Amino acid sequence: MEINDKSGVKSYLAEEGRYDSMTYNRAGKSGVLLPAISLGLWHNFGFVDDLKNGRDILRTAFDLGITHLDFANNYGPPPGSAEENFGTIFKQDFKAYRDELFIATKAGYGMWPGPYGDFGSRKYLISSLDQSLKRMGLDYVDIFYHHRPDPDTPLEETMGGLADIVRQGKALYVGISNYGPEDTQKAAKLLKDLKVPFILHQARYSMFDRWVEDGLLDTLENSGLGCIAFSPLEQGMLTDKYLKGIPKNSRAGNDSIFLNAETVQSNIEKIQNLNTIAQERGQKLSQMAIAWLLRKPQITSVLVGSSSSNQLKENVKALDNLLFNHEELKLIDGIIS
Ligand SMILES: NC(=O)c1ccc[n+]([C@@H]2O[C@H](COP(=O)([O-])OP(=O)(O)OC[C@H]3O[C@@H](n4cnc5c(N)ncnc54)[C@H](OP(=O)(O)O)[C@@H]3O)[C@@H](O)[C@H]2O)c1
Repeated sequence: MEINDKSGVKSYLAEEGRYDSMTYNRAGKSGVLLPAISLGLWHNFGFVDDLKNGRDILRTAFDLGITHLDFANNYGPPPGSAEENFGTIFKQDFKAYRDELFIATKAGYGMWPGPYGDFGSRKYLISSLDQSLKRMGLDYVDIFYHHRPDPDTPLEETMGGLADIVRQGKALYVGISNYGPEDTQKAAKLLKDLKVPFILHQARYSMFDRWVEDGLLDTLENSGLGCIAFSPLEQGMLTDKYLKGIPKNSRAGNDSIFLNAETVQSNIEKIQNLNTIAQERGQKLSQMAIAWLLRKPQITSVLVGSSSSNQLKENVKALDNLLFNHEELKLIDGIIS
């Protein structure tokens, strides 16, 4: 909602009932509760995008009880611009709500030229987070992740960097992303010895990508960690967006390097069959895809992207029907396996 202050300037006032209908799940065995659906700012928030639309999506998210926002140093394009745009919006709309937000950022992919702007050295992680904080205008983030495993840097160094970031007060918690089960276990042991609050693993997980079921989810449960499932809609394929062709204003229609028309076309039969099941459940396909992930106890939150506030509103309605019967799960398995 927008209100006019005494001088007539319009400012954002968050919805009073914003915590009434969102579900909050515990992040592993930690004290942190996160919304079952979180917002990722990988796409749609860069300098190439419409800032007004981004602001609308962020306001909608917060009004719906989505307190958890996910960034990385390189989100944009150009890299860094999603954090910078958020900094602008944060100052205008969310400064008063800082303690109601759980803000995440990461480093691990290429960010700046030369040997210190990529992978997992202590040098990279610490300087990258300093840059992120400056761009967002924040004193600290709630969680800082190492974005991907680095085969050439000792895990002790990367985890030591995360530990010092917490000790410096620049992040409250730490996490890792895209690590396999074995490295996750090693990281958990190192961080436990360092007495660092390691609470989350962020992994790609959707009906079309089930790699986490092969050991990672068990590892997370045994280590008391929560899982944040990213790209749950397979970047839009698990929605009704592509059922009648490839719209121009879509990720695949824009020839994204991350999703192209051929990938959509090669999956279209599965998408149509899944859509039929979703309709029989009285849900949109996007809602069924989110609910299907949330049925797993290890999933703390499903991290969606949205190019409009209407998409986000639709996705949050997944929470209205999270139950699957045995027959539905069998049918879904038959389609996606
Ligand atoms: N840790 C990592 O390595 C990593 C990697 C990737 C992502 N992530 C995180 O995960 C977040 C989500 O990733 P993602 O963007 O790939 O997620 P996604 O939720 O699978 O896809 C989001 C896209 O799907 C489309 N969409 C969403 N809801 C829709 C609806 N109801 N109807 C029709 N289309 C809909 C929109 O695309 P259109 O533009 O076509 O409308 C939207 O941008 C990222 O923002 C990021 O925070 C992390």
